[in-house]
Amino acid sequence: MHVHFSRGGPKPHLYGELARALDALLTGETDRIANLANAAALLWEGIPDINWVGFYLSDGEGGLVLGPFQGRPACTRIAPGRGVCGAAAAERHTVVVPDVHAFPGHIACDAASRSEIVVPLLASAGGGAVYGVLDVDSPTPARFDAEDAEGLALCVGVLRRHLGLGQG
Ligand code: SME
Repeated sequence: MHVHFSRGGPKPHLYGELARALDALLTGETDRIANLANAAALLWEGIPDINWVGFYLSDGEGGLVLGPFQGRPACTRIAPGRGVCGAAAAERHTVVVPDVHAFPGHIACDAASRSEIVVPLLASAGGGAVYGVLDVDSPTPARFDAEDAEGLALCVGVLRRHLGLGQG
């Protein structure tokens, strides 16, 4: 499927384009796996300098289980609170890790990863459960900053709306 977005330019512009393209791509489909898979594929295509992007979903027992992604095969299960993904899910907010080697408990799925950002997907707007997390890894140290956090939050908002989790 062909999806249009303009690459390059400042990060806020790129993420605005990706959020718009994501909205168009997911419109008309309600299957969550299909939408998560296409979201991972679009972000993989659109975000420069990354080596993994995808989702870990709440397993119903406090842990996370691998969902749709792009990149090298990854760990399937993350125990409650473990790694960057577990921390973001437990704290219910975005975690930016400039140097994964310096993050206690970081789970190395791909040895090439040097920095990482994880954005939680909340199951509801209030104090509800975490549906899962969006995890993006880069081979470049300190690849992600506040603009990436803001831009990915925009994309996650669009995605949540299409997953029926709440208003984006
Ligand atoms: N590094 C993550 C685990 C997932 S993989 O990088 C795809 C973490 O520490 O939670």
